[in-house]
Amino acid sequence: MTPDCVLKSLLMIILALFSANASNWLYLAKLSSLGSITEEEGCERLKGLIQRQVQVCRASVEVMDSVRRGAQLAIQECQHQFRHRRWNCSTLDTPPLFGRVASQGTREAAFVYAVSAASLAYSVTRACSSGELERCGCDRSVQGGAGTEGEDGVHQGPRFQWAGCSDNVAYGVAFSASFADVRERSRRSAAGRALMNLHNNEAGRNAVLSLMRVECKCHGVSGSCEVRTCWRAMPPFRAVGVLLKEKFDGATEVEPRRIGSARALVPRNPQFKPHTPEDLVYLEPSLDFCERDAGSGVLGTEGRACNLTSKAVDGCQLLCCGRGFHSRQAQLLERCGCKFHWCCYVRCRQCLRRVEVHTCR
Ligand SMILES: *[C@@H]1O[C@H](CO)[C@@H](O)[C@H](O)[C@H]1NC(C)=O
Ligand SMILES: *[C@@H]1O[C@H](CO)[C@@H](O)[C@H](O)[C@H]1NC(C)=O
Repeated sequence: MTPDCVLKSLLMIILALFSANASNWLYLAKLSSLGSITEEEGCERLKGLIQRQVQVCRASVEVMDSVRRGAQLAIQECQHQFRHRRWNCSTLDTPPLFGRVASQGTREAAFVYAVSAASLAYSVTRACSSGELERCGCDRSVQGGAGTEGEDGVHQGPRFQWAGCSDNVAYGVAFSASFADVRERSRRSAAGRALMNLHNNEAGRNAVLSLMRVECKCHGVSGSCEVRTCWRAMPPFRAVGVLLKEKFDGATEVEPRRIGSARALVPRNPQFKPHTPEDLVYLEPSLDFCERDAGSGVLGTEGRACNLTSKAVDGCQLLCCGRGFHSRQAQLLERCGCKFHWCCYVRCRQCLRRVEVHTCR
């Protein structure tokens, strides 16, 4: 083979590795802005998109900034929910963003898929409500006269009217399904991993849907609340993260099985009750995430701060994988002796507090 040939086949392998990970659109989170991409040019330049996603990009360039913000939201929330765990949702500087962690069939991958499908639906819905997108706006199906929906708390109390901007979550959810699921849907055989990813994507979107709530505002003479106007609103994304973290803790281990002519995921342990569309599922046990393994994108827990008294996974015993830990004194700058001054400000002093910091060996 000529050097050119070798280079070319190397490139093909790299490209194949690249597209083997459907959550690579999350890599858009690394961009501080999309710059000036247009329909004709630029969608190909976005790292991490597969061909079908490039097509979506070309068809609606204006939505891509919500996709980018959705990716950032997913990573932020993942890092928050996993901040006390051995794998803390750290990202790499080159795709795939989570190394091999998110491309194996583990619980962690389940969470990453679910939270990113959810954040994509969330971010696009937000953009609809804020009038940023031409193709969608507020949910017009929630409009008009006094509601007879029988929603908790809404049909009681004062008269109310649907008004204001209801979040168009149906649009966001549909967009998320069309964008985040394309890779899995384009696989011919419903391999276990494709089924797993699709299920977890759906579970993520279901988390957003299940947390939709009704928000209201009172109108009337001096706050008498004679009439209320209400609209449907999404929860703060933190609530979605909390719910999905609970689903992560209770995730079901499954295996693909042939049922008739189709394949489906069933619990590996037949004693367990079947998972619901809201639950997360996974195919293989996780790594222990103890040691650094650059090839897999695992940073290991050396140097991580641990809690001396906790028996949970943030405790020095578990977090440091039994390797032990270093302890040192540190000083913490804090606000203290705060006094309220009439009227109206608070003045504080700054105090140094000695604390002991423990980090894993
Ligand atoms: C995750 O842990 C690594 C060390 O294992 C640390 O370098 C990194 O800053 C942590 N990331 C976050 C987001 O906490
Ligand atoms: C350490 O863990 C204990 C027990 O879980 C908890 O009460 C405490 O707030 C934790 N300390 C820190 C600094 O997080």
